Amino acid sequence: MSDTPQTTPREGGRAAIGDAVPRVDGPKKVTGRAPYTADHRLDEAPLIGWIVPSRAGRARVDAVDTARALDVPGVVAVLTHRNAPKQAPRGTPSDAGRFSQSHALLAAPEVACYGEPVALVLAETLEAAREAAGLVEVALTPLPGRYAVTGDEPDEALEVPDDVDGGMPADMSHGDFDLAWEKAEVRVDATYETLAEHASAMEPHATLATWDGEELVVRVAIQIVGSAVEALANTLRLDKEKVRVISPFIGGGFGSKLGIHDDAVLASLGAIATDRPVRVVQTRRDLFSSAPHRGCSTQRVRLGASRDGRLLAVAHESVMPMARGYEFAEPCAASARASYACDGILTRHRVVRADLPRIDSMRGPGEAVGSLAFESAVDELARALERDPVAFRLANVAETEPISGKPFASFDLRRCLEVGAERYGWSRRAERGRRDGRWLLGHGVASATRPNFLMEAKARVRLEDDGRAVAELDMTDIGTGSYTILSQIVADTLELPLDRVEVRLGDSRYPQTAGSGGSFGAASAGGALLSACRRLRGQLRAGGGREAEGHIEPGEDFEKYAQYMTGAHFVEVGVDEVTSEVRVRRAVGAFSFGRVLNPTTARSQLYGGMVFGIGGALTEGLHLDERVGAYMNRDLAGYHLPTERDVPALEVVMIGERDDRCGLLGSKGVGELGLCGLGAAIANAVYDACGARVRRFPLTPDAVMAARAAW
Ligand code: MOS
Repeated sequence: MSDTPQTTPREGGRAAIGDAVPRVDGPKKVTGRAPYTADHRLDEAPLIGWIVPSRAGRARVDAVDTARALDVPGVVAVLTHRNAPKQAPRGTPSDAGRFSQSHALLAAPEVACYGEPVALVLAETLEAAREAAGLVEVALTPLPGRYAVTGDEPDEALEVPDDVDGGMPADMSHGDFDLAWEKAEVRVDATYETLAEHASAMEPHATLATWDGEELVVRVAIQIVGSAVEALANTLRLDKEKVRVISPFIGGGFGSKLGIHDDAVLASLGAIATDRPVRVVQTRRDLFSSAPHRGCSTQRVRLGASRDGRLLAVAHESVMPMARGYEFAEPCAASARASYACDGILTRHRVVRADLPRIDSMRGPGEAVGSLAFESAVDELARALERDPVAFRLANVAETEPISGKPFASFDLRRCLEVGAERYGWSRRAERGRRDGRWLLGHGVASATRPNFLMEAKARVRLEDDGRAVAELDMTDIGTGSYTILSQIVADTLELPLDRVEVRLGDSRYPQTAGSGGSFGAASAGGALLSACRRLRGQLRAGGGREAEGHIEPGEDFEKYAQYMTGAHFVEVGVDEVTSEVRVRRAVGAFSFGRVLNPTTARSQLYGGMVFGIGGALTEGLHLDERVGAYMNRDLAGYHLPTERDVPALEVVMIGERDDRCGLLGSKGVGELGLCGLGAAIANAVYDACGARVRRFPLTPDAVMAARAAW
């Protein structure tokens, strides 16, 4: 059932796949020797680029007066739309995908949204750049824009996106929902709302761009190296071969660094304009108004069941903003398409184009906010049926993919619910009482599902003359543990001690992977490296060459089978009787995601996901200034990520599941799994505690109080 990892070092410093190896880059990180982008030192001191952002929403730039800024000692140049190097129009080529398209800036006297750069000051020092940026005078005429998006949009404002994240169709159905809904004896029809959210990675977006002869070398905090090269080449109209992207250490991304952002383009423009290295680090404040984020959502869920507890009908429909000029729609109904068997399913995603900063994948796109609604509604239905919410879920777990009828490669939801319930003590929860002083106690459960993606990847491994193995691939380590698990794969396959293995990542000169995103990084990059190592081992045994390449891509099994990870969350909350504050007191999650490559790093991933689950449920939310489309709580004091005090001891059970169809490595994604569903378990526990169903997230005290008053 749960893993029994190798936690003590193996003989001779060996390490196998599946061992609880501590992070191989840990010592570097805690001693400050891991070079993050903005830390990187060049021989030539870089110019510092400071962004002057638009303080209007959609607008026309009438004039930019840079005279006073240029007078500041140390200022070398101020780039505006008048003098910035020429670029390809934003969003081109249209067939390149959103992470590879042009992200042109300072290209025209128009501003698409609040926070968009209107000038870049380049100076010898940060102080000079910053002072001068304050002296750039920008005259803007606001243009009509659409900023707020609610659930009450008229039909004509709603658009059907071409697809939703993950490449799924916007609308999918199975059977006849209307008929099933008619037949249902017990029904829930509820609408849920979530606020916009921000990835808020610890490391701000940063770039250091420099010329190396004819080659533009761009050190940038990025999750995917390959598409960053393409995006820069497309934006700057350079040959792909003339752009090198380097990103060895990244301080978190959570989706906001999947593609390049303003810093990357501006630093590159600066390097082109001045022929000097340029560093641009975005400020926390500006990131909150301009970096990729998650849009707000309104989600209607309708569920119907027979009185004896069989789920018959599922409908999940969402409305979210889509940033104008940037095609991304979040698959809120992903869980509804995956989790439970029923006669009729209807899922629809609608978007409203808005003049907002970029909206993109963020931490568990789809399930993170979709399951808040869906798994709350499942709970509402179980309550209406007067059934135990665990038993109700168990009775309806899907046997095949509900929407397509395809067999699952593996689908452990039932076991996750059973194992999690056992570990939590679900059947004995009444013994914990209903109250602890002024805290009203409640317990909640929710299922977690998340699609498993495998992406094409390549890797190279070489045996050096000194007997060390060196692996190279353009995979990134965004804090997840890539260096560690990839080192384990090499050490295991080539039977070498860990300290004889060197893994080099984050350089576009290395074989291309799909990088870190969508929880596909480990299985994809790891599979490619495993294949390279096996090949090298074969070559060495046959007395052949000392270098080998590996390649992996999703095969037939990704066509024939539905691929998912699963989990189940169990949460105890306290609701303050007077203030309605919600505190999570205990959280247990049971997860199944194929082979566990390293229980230490996997557990950390799950903990991180669960922390964000608490954030999405209780604390995180961006508040929009509807006049200009700006987010108002633009720092970590106003945007509340859960802190140590918000997070109780978390318990994670990893169910070691064997799946031979999910790729060479046998592992699936774990990065986002811990987040999916946890928020709903919290909301369900709040209902259990105080009888109030809160359908507006996050569950801040005022939202809970209002729901309690209504009840
Ligand atoms: Mo993830 S939201 O694909 O980094």
